[in-house]
Amino acid sequence: MQTVQQFTSLSHLSCSQCGQFYSAFEMQTYAPCCNQPLVAVYELPDDFSKASLRGRVTSMWRYREVLPVFEPDNIVSLGEGMTPILTPKHLRAQYELPNLFIKDESGNPTGSFKARGLSMAVSKAKEAGAHTCIVPTAGNAGGAMAAYCAAAGIKAIVVMPSHTPQVFKDECLLYGAELVLVDGLISDCAKKVAQIKQSIECFDISTLKEPWRLEGKKTMGYEIAEQFDWALPDVILYPTGGGTGLIGMWKAFNEMEEMGWIDTRRPRMIAVQAATCQPIVHTWNGVQPNAKNYIGRPSIANGLAVPNPFAENMILRVLRESGGRPIAVQDVDMITAVKEIAKAEGLIIAPEGAALWKALLELLDQQVIQRDEKILMLNTGSGYKYLQNIM
Ligand SMILES: Cc1ncc(COP(=O)(O)O)c(C=O)c1O
Ligand SMILES: [Zn+2]
Repeated sequence: MQTVQQFTSLSHLSCSQCGQFYSAFEMQTYAPCCNQPLVAVYELPDDFSKASLRGRVTSMWRYREVLPVFEPDNIVSLGEGMTPILTPKHLRAQYELPNLFIKDESGNPTGSFKARGLSMAVSKAKEAGAHTCIVPTAGNAGGAMAAYCAAAGIKAIVVMPSHTPQVFKDECLLYGAELVLVDGLISDCAKKVAQIKQSIECFDISTLKEPWRLEGKKTMGYEIAEQFDWALPDVILYPTGGGTGLIGMWKAFNEMEEMGWIDTRRPRMIAVQAATCQPIVHTWNGVQPNAKNYIGRPSIANGLAVPNPFAENMILRVLRESGGRPIAVQDVDMITAVKEIAKAEGLIIAPEGAALWKALLELLDQQVIQRDEKILMLNTGSGYKYLQNIM
């Protein structure tokens, strides 16, 4: 019990809508009181200081006090996190953007930022004694879950749209996962997951239908603050599907403010979506009351083809509180951006990340973002997995 206290300061879970208390020591999914995600709450420790980070492991586990794993032996890590923040020299010069940065998540295990959430969720699955994990995925999360389950010795079932590029399927099979293909989008995969769960007992890692992936993704927020010497950017652009990273970064900023690590200044958060699947943009613009019945189409940025994000309320709250907004980008523009950034900077980024570049240019034109602001784009994945659709 002593180790437990030292390692994490996790206190309880709370409903993201009404704040109702739920135990963090029992298996939980989402909050039944409001049918909304659960969030982890910590008893933020006094002795967890910025200085205490010095010399720690260079992975997301350096923030262990504000991460939810009780027992260090349960951590399933492949070295995720502490990704670099790059200064894209040629884009900066050509577009007169002196303070443009890219946090490059492509070097994570399995080539995307999904590694963070899945390292955390599979660690918690291990801690709970799970034998099988299941996930509906647009692609990257499935590969990440398969890898972490392989490392943990847990069986993985990945349910993925059949139109996803072959490499996303192959990596799951290589990691030993059972792969189930569904004609449709991630929302259809979620229905299949519900069906499979009726006959097999599984730890369900669906986006924000369990509280732990969010805790992994929030480490991006801690890293951004630490890497920028505790002065956050003015604007963060983030490719938003289910919204875990966006919500996670915001949660990290709030926790850091509570610990006195940063002041009250916050970036404007920009949620970038695919034009073929832009539920958040439609709700924001009043085209629909919410995304429950939104019908989306596939995108080359498969991670953005999430028509009915479960955490829509939380995404909208972050955008409102931060003074940000959502914006949509066409697939054809994402492909142009992948090619432009590859030639200019030597980086083949995911189309999800490339969408941010087009969104930024549009928002500069609209003067929503100013050229001299400190602007951070989150490149969430490697473009290598998508090449068959880009060339
Ligand atoms: C490369 C990439 N970027 C962004 C996203 C969207 O992430 P989130 O669910 O955190 O909004 C995904 C999700 O699959 C992804 O694979
Ligand atoms: Zn509630």
